[in-house]
Amino acid sequence: MKKRVSTVAAAVSALSLAGFSLSSFAQDAGQDQAEEKVTIKQVMKEAHKDGLLAKVLKDEASPEEKLKLLDLYVSMAETKPPQGDEKVWKERTSDIVVKVARVVVEREGAATDLKKSTDCAACHKEFKPPAK
Ligand code: HEC
Repeated sequence: MKKRVSTVAAAVSALSLAGFSLSSFAQDAGQDQAEEKVTIKQVMKEAHKDGLLAKVLKDEASPEEKLKLLDLYVSMAETKPPQGDEKVWKERTSDIVVKVARVVVEREGAATDLKKSTDCAACHKEFKPPAK
């Protein structure tokens, strides 16, 4: 069931690995393992709280910053959500990977589509556990 969506994610990550070496986020976790898994919280911080997505949407991001956002969203697509339907999560996050990849390769209207796909509240409603 998750074959189709993970193929998309794999294709996009292969694409990014082929041409560019992306920074590792292991340092944040205080580990020196390059393979350290990125958590959803890390993605939320780096992509959203720190303003990277906003910068990309305003077309003010450098090519490296766009790739960093792609890298973060590929990592998010490799996670499991803390709540909600895993299959829907895969579809939702893989869709975001494709949308940011379209920004990276400068497709027409890509930023508008990325903005629609990254609706904070819509995703949180389904997948983010209520604050304790
Ligand atoms: C594809 C789904 C998705 C989208 C889109 C999304 N989030 Fe999240 N977000 C999550 C999930 C899931 C969590 C809960 C993570 C956890 O508790 O492990 C979360 C948690 C957070 C947190 C709390 C992180 C923490 O350390 O506890 C912040 C802040 C946040 N999101 C900001 C945003 C903002 C701002 C946007 C919109 C620009 C956004 N998110 C869009 C899924 C999403």
